[in-house]
Amino acid sequence: MSKYTTALVTGGAGFIGSHIVDALIRRRIKVYVVDDLSTGNTKNVNPNAHFTRMSILNPQFVEYLKRVKPDVIFHTAAQINLRDSVKDPMNDAKTNILGSLTIAHVAGQIGIKKIIFSSSGASYPESARLPWSEKVVSEPVSPYAISKRSAEMYFHFAYMIHGVSYVALRYANVYGPRQNAKGEAGVISVFTNQMLRGKPSTIFGTGKQTRDFIFVEDVVAANIAAMNKKVIGVFNIGTGKETDVNTIFHKLQKFTHAQLPARHEPASVGEVMRSSLDCRKAREILGWKPSVKLDEGLEKTVIDITSKNRTQ
Ligand SMILES: NC(=O)c1ccc[n+]([C@@H]2O[C@H](COP(=O)([O-])OP(=O)(O)OC[C@H]3O[C@@H](n4cnc5c(N)ncnc54)[C@H](O)[C@@H]3O)[C@@H](O)[C@H]2O)c1
Repeated sequence: MSKYTTALVTGGAGFIGSHIVDALIRRRIKVYVVDDLSTGNTKNVNPNAHFTRMSILNPQFVEYLKRVKPDVIFHTAAQINLRDSVKDPMNDAKTNILGSLTIAHVAGQIGIKKIIFSSSGASYPESARLPWSEKVVSEPVSPYAISKRSAEMYFHFAYMIHGVSYVALRYANVYGPRQNAKGEAGVISVFTNQMLRGKPSTIFGTGKQTRDFIFVEDVVAANIAAMNKKVIGVFNIGTGKETDVNTIFHKLQKFTHAQLPARHEPASVGEVMRSSLDCRKAREILGWKPSVKLDEGLEKTVIDITSKNRTQ
């Protein structure tokens, strides 16, 4: 049993947020969801959650927070697209910096006990040796990475000044059921959707670029561990393993029985060639470790997308 009885999940109609909502409801916690549905979908929202369609940038959100006053906030709402953050950094900063700062600021005023923030491993420098541990100094080079790092620092500030406990979970590339093709690990849902529809997939560059793919159920388990442990600070959440895009393509071909070869297009400018996160700190302090193997997670994702396509 958790010591918390009420929780707010911002972005709870999105991919990761909606899975966190489900896990909290299974633990009999009363769950509030605020989401503006910019990339989320009401179909993802657990019917037992109290859903409000609202932007965290809406001035009424502050009133809402004061009225609901949850014990704990899982802050997942964000502008999630790295390329869009380059095109429109002001929009990214509004949601990811000002939206997060609003939560940090009001939490201090109204006595929120804990905030669990969905951060990202995007701000580690590519020059550092893999896998990147939390000790590697951030060098964010995209507006998205800058905004995620800034929000972490504002949560730390709220802790120092108002004593609001926080945990920032720096996710690797999360994948699994309900993922919107726009996400950081969109490649898995994009390829799966294309393969199931008999369309060719496009690999940007050689396909030898690697990522650390972590299944959404493991990310949810990290959020629950962060809620239950009396800790504060930043934790990497990934597998520590690198998998290249070509391998993902071939594994998904096997699970979807697709046969079309991949098309190749030039890599995006500035794309990171390799990434993976060292998660020993989460293992030692949160008592968390990933438990879903890549093949198992990919198969579950393909099964979910296949069944959704059938019912559409
Ligand atoms: N998916 C990944 O691989 C990954 C990796 C690192 C970090 N993250 C972080 O995890 C969190 C969840 O990402 P996701 O992949 O589930 O994306 P998602 O797009 O499915 O979820 C984000 C949700 O936030 C909502 N939202 C956006 N702006 C809002 C606003 N102003 N007010 C209220 N709601 C708003 C969207 O409608 C959506 O439902 C994000 O903070 C993202 O930056 C994701």
